[in-house]
Amino acid sequence: MQNKFTCREVNKLKVLITGGLGFIGTYAANRLVSLGHQVVTFDTLSGPPPESTELLKGTEHFRGDLLNPLSLFEAIEKHKVDRIMHLAALRNLDSQRNPHLAFRLNCEGTVNCYEAARIFGLERVVFASTSATVGSYEYYESLGVKELPDDLPSRPINIYGVTKAFDEMMGKEYGKVYGLNVVGVRLALIYGPGKKAGSKTSGWNDLIEGSMKGEPMKQSRLGDKKVSITYAKDASEAAVCAVLAKNPPSGTYNCTGHSVTAAEYCDTIRLVLPKANITLVDDDARPATMGLFDTRGAREHLGYTPIFSLLQGIEDHVKTLS
Ligand SMILES: NC(=O)c1ccc[n+]([C@@H]2O[C@H](COP(=O)([O-])OP(=O)(O)OC[C@H]3O[C@@H](n4cnc5c(N)ncnc54)[C@H](O)[C@@H]3O)[C@@H](O)[C@H]2O)c1
Repeated sequence: MQNKFTCREVNKLKVLITGGLGFIGTYAANRLVSLGHQVVTFDTLSGPPPESTELLKGTEHFRGDLLNPLSLFEAIEKHKVDRIMHLAALRNLDSQRNPHLAFRLNCEGTVNCYEAARIFGLERVVFASTSATVGSYEYYESLGVKELPDDLPSRPINIYGVTKAFDEMMGKEYGKVYGLNVVGVRLALIYGPGKKAGSKTSGWNDLIEGSMKGEPMKQSRLGDKKVSITYAKDASEAAVCAVLAKNPPSGTYNCTGHSVTAAEYCDTIRLVLPKANITLVDDDARPATMGLFDTRGAREHLGYTPIFSLLQGIEDHVKTLS
């Protein structure tokens, strides 16, 4: 399956991944190493958690805090880094609970990456954005918009989205003013082994992992509207493609996976886990954002297309945890 990915390879690189010991960072680090690149994970954690040791084999680790630019500078200098993949961030619900920390980590921390890249003359910063920057489901439905392009004006739906919209806009300015190549990968809902519990979207993982344990599960039908859902290995691949692509124009690219209804998602879980006991609930809930993204920019400029179908993603998820 791996060799179907269509990244455009460049010379062997040394890539520093902020938040490299997190959910997406671990997969991205593993993939870069498998392609022959060198990876330094930069994270406040002291080292890989036991469950990630295998995936992070062949990487180096620098314990540092994004909010201390000197530690970032030290890591870049010590490891002779070529490019940064910036993934460290405060998640959705945590940002709602702690807006000041969200501002510090997601805005100031991102500017620290842009500054470090500018000062050290690095070639590129890739950062993870989110569908929470683009606007609510109701807004685009009322306009009759069916598919969201890359360059929509930001209409963030929450505090987390505001901080990431700032990152997108500030990245553009660093490109304009300093010529820094800043590439955002706009990710939507992600599922896969290793996703932390308690996030706004972890319920989609719970449906798989609860069903594996034989637990009865409930899921809103979400009005049979489509959501965009991406397997973790595809989401991390998008970030890897953005790091390795040849001369992608600065900007933020929709890097989503598949558009499905909640019912289709649950039906696919049942194909993999025939004993899954999931009840679909008819309620007033609707998806937070539109589930259809135009991904032509990511395909053309980054060489990214999702490789895992929904069925393959769920099969891989279940197999990994079995
Ligand atoms: N997981 C999703 O569903 C999802 C969806 C859309 C976008 N994203 C974005 O993708 C990126 C990666 O998300 P994730 O799910 O892997 O997050 P995660 O929470 O699993 O990992 C974040 C990592 O950052 C580290 N970190 C936190 N503060 C730090 C600091 N001050 N300095 C250095 N490291 C620090 C943490 O220790 C952790 O290892 C984030 O930018 C997130 O906003 C994630």
